[in-house]
Order: sequence, then C-alpha cells, then structure tokens
Amino acid sequence: MSETREQFGSRIGFILAAAGSAVGIGNLVGFPVGAAKNGGGAFLLMYAVFVFAICLPVMLAEMSVGRHTKKDPLGAYRMLGGNSPHWKLAGWLSIITPFMIAVFYLVITVWIFGYLFEVVTGNLEALADPDTFSTFINSPNIFIYMALVVGIVYLILQGGVKDGIEKAAKLLMPSLFVMLLLLVIFVLTQDNAMAGVRFYLIPDFSKINASVVNGALSQAFFSLSLGMGIMITYGSYIDNQADVPNSAKLVAITDTAVAFVAGLMILPAIFSFNPNTNPADLSESSIGMIFTFLPKIFLALQSSIGFVGASAVAGIFFLLVFFAAITSLVSIFEVPVAALMDEKGVSRKKALLLLGLLMVVLASICAISFGFSDFFTSFTSYAGSSKSFFDVVYDVFYDTILPLNGFLICIFVIYRWRRANFNRALDEGAPNYKGSLFERYVNLSVGTFIPLILLVIFVNTVALKYF
Ligand code: PHE
Repeated sequence: MSETREQFGSRIGFILAAAGSAVGIGNLVGFPVGAAKNGGGAFLLMYAVFVFAICLPVMLAEMSVGRHTKKDPLGAYRMLGGNSPHWKLAGWLSIITPFMIAVFYLVITVWIFGYLFEVVTGNLEALADPDTFSTFINSPNIFIYMALVVGIVYLILQGGVKDGIEKAAKLLMPSLFVMLLLLVIFVLTQDNAMAGVRFYLIPDFSKINASVVNGALSQAFFSLSLGMGIMITYGSYIDNQADVPNSAKLVAITDTAVAFVAGLMILPAIFSFNPNTNPADLSESSIGMIFTFLPKIFLALQSSIGFVGASAVAGIFFLLVFFAAITSLVSIFEVPVAALMDEKGVSRKKALLLLGLLMVVLASICAISFGFSDFFTSFTSYAGSSKSFFDVVYDVFYDTILPLNGFLICIFVIYRWRRANFNRALDEGAPNYKGSLFERYVNLSVGTFIPLILLVIFVNTVALKYF
C-alpha cells in the first residue's frame, strides 16, 4: 500500500494544505470575538502561549504518527498500538470525530455560501434585517446551497492529494491572504478604526478567569485542527525527507497570524462603520456575529461608499470566510475518506460518494434542527436546557471529544509507541530539531503536563455539561 500512497507534491503544498485546514471560521470570526470579549491583549498573549507551548507539540505528535505509519488514523493506531483493542478504539474516535465535526461545520459553511450568494445578488439590505437569519436557515434554499458546497468539496477531493487538496490550497490560500489584507487595509484607513483596535488589543487581565483560560485553549486546539485525525492523515502524505517540526511551526505561525489579523479587520470595522457601537452589544457567539451583526455593519457603509461599494466589501468578506471554510472542510472530510480507502481498499470515488451521502443526510438533520423540524430542534435535554440535534453534535464532538483525542494521542505516542521512536521519527529530515531544546521540551510536555491539562478539560467538560 505504502508505495502507491498518494503524496503532496511539494513542501509548500503540504504547508499550505495544513494551514488551509487550520485557518477557518474559527480564526476569522471565533478568535476576534473571543479576544475582544475576554480581555483583549491579555487573551491574545495567553492564546499565543497555548498555541506554541501546548498545541504545537500535539501537532508534532499527530504529524509524526501519520508520516511514520503512512496510514489513516485508524490504521496508524492499529499499527503502532500492536492491534490492541483499546488503541483501536482511539483510532475509531479519530475517524468519527472529524466526520461529526464536519457535519456541523458543513452546515455553517452552507450558511456562509448562502450569504455570499445573497450579497452578490444585491440582497445585502435584506441580510441586515435582524429577522432574516432565522428565516434564511429555515428556508428550503439551504438544500440547494448544501448541494453546491458538497459538490465543490467533492470536486476538490476527487482530484486526490496532489491534484485536489494541494492544488486547491495553492489557489485558495494565497487568495485568502490577499483578500484579508485588502479588507484590513480598507478597514484601518476608515475613521474611528482605532477605537476598534483599542477595544481589540488593550489588555484587561481582570477578565481572565478559569473559563476564559479553558475557552482560549479549546479555541487554539480547534483552530490548529487537532484531535480530528487531520494532521495524522495529512502527515501520512509526506515523505521522510520533510522537516516536520519546521512545517508544523509554520502552520502554527500562519494560523495564529491570520487569527490576529482577522481581529484587526473585524473590530475596527464594527467601530468605524457604525460609530455608535456599544461594546456590550457585540454578539456572544461567532455565529451571531457573522450572520446578524456583521451584515448590519456592512450595510452602514453605504452612506460613505454607496450600496455597490458596501456590497463589494461584504462580498469579499463572505468569500474570504468561504475559502477558509472550504479548505477546512476538505481536510476534515479527507480523514474518513482516507480511512475507508485504506481500510477497505475502495476507490477514492466510491469512498467519497458513500461518505458524502451519509454526510448530507446528517448535515440535513442538523440544518433542520433550528425550527424547521420540531423533533430535531428539541432533540434532547441536559443540564436543564433543551438541545437541538446541532447542539448535541457540537457539544459532544467539539467540546468533549476533542480534548480527549488530544489526550489519547499524547499518551499513545510517548507510552505506547515510545519516546525514542517518536524522536527518531521527528528527527528524520529535521537536523535542526535533533537534540534541540525544543525537542526536549516536546518530549517532556507531551509525556506529562499536556495530556494532563487535556484530561482535566475533558473531565471538567463532562462534569459541567451533561449533569
Ligand atoms: N481550524 C478550523 C477553524 O479554525 C477548524 C476546523 C478544521 C474545522 C478542520 C473543520 C475542519 O475553523
């Protein structure tokens, strides 16, 4: 199998694809909102420490397992876990988790695509109406948008690793950077933009409490696409000459830089396009932010640059978020696809069709769980509140299982695969890493406090969330 395994064509292709996975809705909207509401510069500092001190070592663990085994996560856990049923279970978790996260991420991507379509067809004004969002997400058009988004993901993935994933990343990521920079420059040159920059960056350490710390770490972990088998799978497509630590560092830097810069776009935009903004009105959730708050903000631009100008700015914004979301969706969907291909020997096309169909069914259930279907809207209840199907998928897989998967990969790499093998695998192709201080740090942290922290988050989430 390994001699015929697909590979990325170049180092930059791999880095762009992995960064494409990491840069997503979380960076462009989740991070700025989180930072602005939770202590500004203080949050930022903490986030950066988490990215490099906790998430980067986990990324190395995932990539090294993938590259060494040249297998999908299930196969990798089986191979290095010596067929142990327990580790196989961990392998299954790293296939099912991305599949289920893809389900809710697809729904949000579909909404973004729909908003992009509405803006482009001249309907920005309607989007700015606060009632539009709930009508929009419950309209049958959602299924048309879903078909289109799934079609795009299918087209990319059926090209395979080099001619699909890598090619798409090489096209979409540079366009994304350009659009982001254009918007930032535009926004920062508007009146009152500095009020937004101040709101975003001035540190307020009094806002930092246990739940903010936990939120920042979860955000960083999700943002780097960890715990979802993605970096194992992408790692399995690189050769043994590649410098994994260096590539991982670049991915982490890119991801963090995009998140940081996105904040320089979103918050100044809010304060300058709508000078009467009251910080207390900023939406709690990034979903509320993208779909109800920002369209209003964009529309406010029409007094200075006209309706077409305002629509153009909104259009670029939604296209930017859409590109970020597509490259993330591609990466997360590749995990179960690769597993089905590897494990059952089916063709890429067959795996895509089969899993794509299942995905559409589940995503449709998520999509109708916002009022359209009573059954799925009040699907169950825990911790005293009613939950939709969408909420359940989000709570279970994003909030609960992700840190568990992170814990498992750390323990697996150091105590099952063994530290010496882990090091040898990372040293290959990375002369500067070998014997470095960073290597020693990774060794220590992945075997001790990182899994401990992730376990505490997992247990804490279970205790607080469901009882
Ligand atoms: N890193 C992505 C983000 O920040 C999260 C993600 C990755 C979601 C891969 C889905 C698939 O939005």
